[in-house]
Amino acid sequence: MFSNKGVKAALLVSGIVLSSLAMPALADQKFVATQDGSPLNIDPKLFDTPAAKEFLQTGKNPYIGNAEAAARGKKIFQLYSCTQCHGPDAKGQVGPGLLGPTFRYPKDATNKGMFETIWHGTNGGMGAKGLGLMDPTDPTNGLKPDEVLKVIAWIRSHGGVTGNE
Ligand code: HEC
Repeated sequence: MFSNKGVKAALLVSGIVLSSLAMPALADQKFVATQDGSPLNIDPKLFDTPAAKEFLQTGKNPYIGNAEAAARGKKIFQLYSCTQCHGPDAKGQVGPGLLGPTFRYPKDATNKGMFETIWHGTNGGMGAKGLGLMDPTDPTNGLKPDEVLKVIAWIRSHGGVTGNE
């Protein structure tokens, strides 16, 4: 027979175990610059859609395989002149092809890595496209995280990897 005290203690312990299972501490992803690995410190408020919020916590792109998001991403790819350097199908032109499975920056095989490259650019001719980074005089110019995820969804829709592997 359990004593009353013992039952209470057991309930307390299982309560603690259950609540820690129900609410795992989800820390935000730490984004780093493709140039030098330094922290990017992107304002979490910019992740303002359910998909962007999920990406902030998991590093996975929820738009992969979503045809509607990919179609929007293709439009953004054209609007932001990605086409001019990477070609209309992102197979490469002045800039490299983006379809993989191998990349100039190996981390671009992951969606977190490609997000960082698009957001903050590289030292080799790829400018930062993140909101507020494209044009220092115009903080409204550039892609929001949700838009970057849609562009990536389009690139991955005909590429060699999904990036969520
Ligand atoms: C002015 C030309 C230019 C434009 C416009 C441009 N890029 Fe790039 N991009 C480049 C070049 C050049 C590189 C190679 C950079 C390097 O080697 O450091 C590159 C690299 C990349 C990479 C890394 C590829 C790899 O193999 O790791 C990604 C991803 C990328 N660009 C996406 C984009 C997207 C998305 C846009 C539009 C929002 C865009 N680029 C617009 C020129 C451009």
